[in-house]
Amino acid sequence: MTKGLKIAINMGGGDAPGLNAVLEAVVRSAYNRGWEVYGIKNSYEGLLDTSEIIRLSPEHVWHISSIGGTILGTTNKGNPFQMPLTNAVGEIEFRDVSDKVVDNFKRLRLDCLIAVGGDGSLQIAHDLFKKGVPVIGVPKTIDNDLAATIITFGFDTAVSIATEAIDRLHPTAKSHDRVMVVEVMGRHAGWIALNSGISGSADVILIPEIPFDMQKVCDHIMEGELRRQRYAIVVVAEGAAPEGGTTLDKGSGEAGRQDVVLGGIADYVAKEISRQTGKDSRSLVLGHLQRGGSPTTFDRLLSLRFGAAALRLVEKKKFGSMVALDPPDIKAIPLENVIGGIKRVPLDGDTLQTAREIGICFGD
Ligand code: F6P
Repeated sequence: MTKGLKIAINMGGGDAPGLNAVLEAVVRSAYNRGWEVYGIKNSYEGLLDTSEIIRLSPEHVWHISSIGGTILGTTNKGNPFQMPLTNAVGEIEFRDVSDKVVDNFKRLRLDCLIAVGGDGSLQIAHDLFKKGVPVIGVPKTIDNDLAATIITFGFDTAVSIATEAIDRLHPTAKSHDRVMVVEVMGRHAGWIALNSGISGSADVILIPEIPFDMQKVCDHIMEGELRRQRYAIVVVAEGAAPEGGTTLDKGSGEAGRQDVVLGGIADYVAKEISRQTGKDSRSLVLGHLQRGGSPTTFDRLLSLRFGAAALRLVEKKKFGSMVALDPPDIKAIPLENVIGGIKRVPLDGDTLQTAREIGICFGD
């Protein structure tokens, strides 16, 4: 067994329940191999300003697998290849500071970086790998839209929270004969909306993969009226859009951030339903509730397995790859096969077919 390796680990992008479990597995498995683990704070920023790097021992991570969020911190900003920096006249400029990350990595005599993240963070990990940094990727996103892995951790927790919320909406919607429209996360893919919508007996599910027609959504709701079902639940993914329309957003939100913060589609749909059907409608956005709290058992176990598998890849020197779930195994996938590929809900898949067969409308 290789002795005395120094492993760095960072987490990038939005947090997801299970991040701490990955960390717990990495630290404990490393300790049992006689390796050291260094926690990098706030994604790649912690490799630019290295003052906050912490050496982690098993006592730091004991049973943090049950805690949501990440004790290392994470950020959606701070891409070292396009770092937002304020210039002399106070404007934000994007500069490539990746050489500094590589220099710091070498100066600290680190042997490997375990990069836990979604598409954006894994793209950075791959770019650093091409510059000579030995990296192993661990896939993370509640949206479950990463290519090459059957599932990402955080997704099961998010679906459970969304399903519970939908369950809670039924009685209030029924009491008031209302349409409740609930917006869930899902930027490019409708996995959370689909799985929670089916599980929570929604009447309508709107996902980014299927542009919707408001008329068809309203017709479906009014067909329910004919059966004396006077209330309805609509689940809409934040990235869904009407036919010929675009997604709704709230701008970039933070200085230096390159993507937009999505939001507002539930409000749009609820207002249109009220306008076109005359039915009382309300909207709500589940937002970050879906990312908070303790990971489900499934997510904990998957995260622990991913963390332990990442160390096995370090041992085999399979740098430039990512751990992925390919049931019943965890496999190594080259990072270049992962990045840029979004895993969308297949339109001919069994889950979507199930939804259609039990009478759920997708607005198409
Ligand atoms: O992690 C992915 C995600 O949850 C998306 O579904 C959502 O659009 C985004 O993060 C929200 O990011 P933020 O936390 O920056 O608002």
